[in-house]
Parts: sequence; C-alpha cells; structure tokens
Amino acid sequence: MAYSDQLQSKIDHLQKRSQPLALGSIEFSSPLILAPMASICNYPFRLLLEELGAGGTVSELISAHAIHHGNARTMKMLRLHEKERNVGIQLFGENADMMAQAAKVAQDFGPKFIDVNMGCPVRKVVTKGGGSALLKDPLALGPYLKKIKAAISIPLTIKIRMGWDEEGVNADEIIHVANEEGIEFVAIHGRTRAQQYTGKADWNYLESLKAESPLPLIGNGDLHNPYSVSQRLATTGLDALMIARGALRNPFIFLESMQDNPKEQIFSSVDYLEIIQRLFELICAAFDQDRVRLIQLRKFIVWFAAGFPNASKFRAAAFQNQDLDSLMISTKQYFLSIENRGKSIDFEGVFMNSGHG
Ligand SMILES: Cc1cc2nc3c(=O)[nH]c(=O)nc-3n(C[C@H](O)[C@H](O)[C@H](O)COP(=O)(O)O)c2cc1C
Repeated sequence: MAYSDQLQSKIDHLQKRSQPLALGSIEFSSPLILAPMASICNYPFRLLLEELGAGGTVSELISAHAIHHGNARTMKMLRLHEKERNVGIQLFGENADMMAQAAKVAQDFGPKFIDVNMGCPVRKVVTKGGGSALLKDPLALGPYLKKIKAAISIPLTIKIRMGWDEEGVNADEIIHVANEEGIEFVAIHGRTRAQQYTGKADWNYLESLKAESPLPLIGNGDLHNPYSVSQRLATTGLDALMIARGALRNPFIFLESMQDNPKEQIFSSVDYLEIIQRLFELICAAFDQDRVRLIQLRKFIVWFAAGFPNASKFRAAAFQNQDLDSLMISTKQYFLSIENRGKSIDFEGVFMNSGHG
C-alpha cells in the first residue's frame, strides 16, 4: 500500500461518500474531476490525485502538431500510469486532419477518452485558430469534430469557454453542434476568452446552459476550496464539476469536499508530507534526469505548503535547494515542524491567473 494505515483510512472513509457516475458512456468514480493543466497534469500528479479522490483526470494539453512530427518530449507527455483508471488525454490544434491523426496516436496510449481543448486563450494558440478560437465559428466546428471522432473508437469530449467575448457568448450553440457530432460530454469554464482569468466564473450562466443541454455538462471555474465545491455540488444542476487551481494548494480538496463540515481540515501537515513522498516516488519513476525531477517536484511542494505557517520562508528556501535529496530533507523538516497547526489560504488573492483553458 502506498500510504500509512492512518492516512489510507481517512482517504477510504471520505472516498466512500462519493458516488460513481457515468457521463454518456464514460464512467467516473465521483462527480469531482481534476481539470487539465499544462505542465502540471502529467501522470504522477494525475495518479496522485486519483488516489486522493479525484473521480477522473485529464492530461495537460498536448499539441497535435508536435505529435504529427513525432516530437520526443511530446510523445512522453502521452504516457499514462498503469494504475490510472479514469483518464482522458487532451489535444489541441486547429487542423482537423492533424487532430484526427494525433487522436489516433493518443488513443493507443490507453485513455478512456480524447478531449479537445477549445478554451485555451493564449495568443500563440488562438492566432493559429486553435483553443478558444474554435468557438468563433460554430459552422466550421461540425466537420472539424466529425473528422476527429471518425479516427478513434473511444469517446470524444470537448472543453470550452462561454464564448469568445461578452458579445460572442455562444456555448449553447457549440453544445448543440457537439451533440450532433456525437461528443460524449462538454466541460465548460465559466468565462469568455476575452476575460482570460479575470472576474468571476459565471455559474448562473452555466446552470442555465444545463437546463437546455442535450449533453452531460461539467462546470468549472473558481471552485478553490472544499467549502465552495461542496456548496456547488449540493445545489448544482450540472452533471459534474471540474477543479483546477484549487487542487494545487489543497490536493485533498476532492476528499475534504465530501465531509459533512467541509470547512474542517481533516488532513494534517504530516499527511501532506506523506503525499509529497508518494509524488516524489512517482516523479522519480517518470523522469530520468534529476534536474527535471527537482523542477517538477519543487513546484508541487511549494504549492502544497501554501497557507501553512511560515510557508513563504520555506518557499524561498526550497528554491535554494539545487538537488533532490536536500529538497526532500528540508521539506521533511518543514512539514514536521508545523505539528498540528492548520492551513489558512487567502482565496481572494490572485493565484495563477493565466493558463491554457
Ligand atoms: C496553470 C494552468 C494551466 C492550465 N492548462 C490547461 C490546459 O492544458 N487545458 C485546459 O483545457 N485548461 C487549462 N487550464 C484551465 C483550467 O483547466 C480551468 O479551466 C481554469 O483554471 C478554471 O478552473 P479553476 O478556477 O478551478 O482553476 C489551465 C489553468 C491553469 C491555471
């Protein structure tokens, strides 16, 4: 077993409270799904979060163009862990033929579904016509999705935004095109492309979309803590919820949202240390070079520490560590030194206000 009996029993206790569900033909172990995040949702992090109650996960966005060219680094991004159960691979690209070919390649790595990124606001992606630029022309979307779907035998899904900008809010239209093309579900981030990460996700709009949607809908945006997740879960008409940034500062968010009192902090700093050790093992197995392992692991450790006492001092020290062993030693000292003092995060403050969806 990966975890101590004490931690595993807390995990099992909370995990039992979530219900499996099917979105179309895709089964998830809970309605709370880890959202795709570039350079973050590689298989070590995805597997860790599945072990910590995520009902499913989606990979970081992967370029169809780079798959077409057989780019070695990109091909490694397609890898899944044999223990991952409910994982999708997300692809991006404006060219339907290249997307179809990439989807076929990705399918051979064994995911449950292929997801198309239609929410990325980044200029480099949208100027070529990919990411959220795909929202601009619903008429062209049908043939694009049809080609990708025809290339694979597993389900195809899409992740979108509300529209290009305030005047161009058209998610309802996009969902209808998706339905006609046999898409399995739609995940939607409640902002427009123009908003990037500013303002608040518009959950009223998301809930109203669901009332008319012929397809299962997953809502996403600003569910940063267990309390807001559990509140939304209790009231939403949407079929499932996706969580991105909230899982970086609290990887136990999927489990803690299942409590009767989701404001109570169940997992201690010692539990955080244990999951960091688990992530260390997974990262070491996934990446050969110590430099890459260090860069990968350090960012997670620093995010996980957020909100614990003296976290900023620890963060500064962690960035001084130039090798894995010394990083792990100072991490252990830090998390053990906190004892039972809890975590307190400023959820109103800016935390990662850019990304690819
Ligand atoms: C660092 C970062 C990277 C992201 N990368 C992706 C991505 O690769 N694909 C995607 O569809 N969305 C991506 N997103 C968007 C998230 O999946 C999600 O839609 C957005 O962050 C809103 O959810 P949240 O408020 O729970 O963070 C990314 C977001 C962040 C912060």
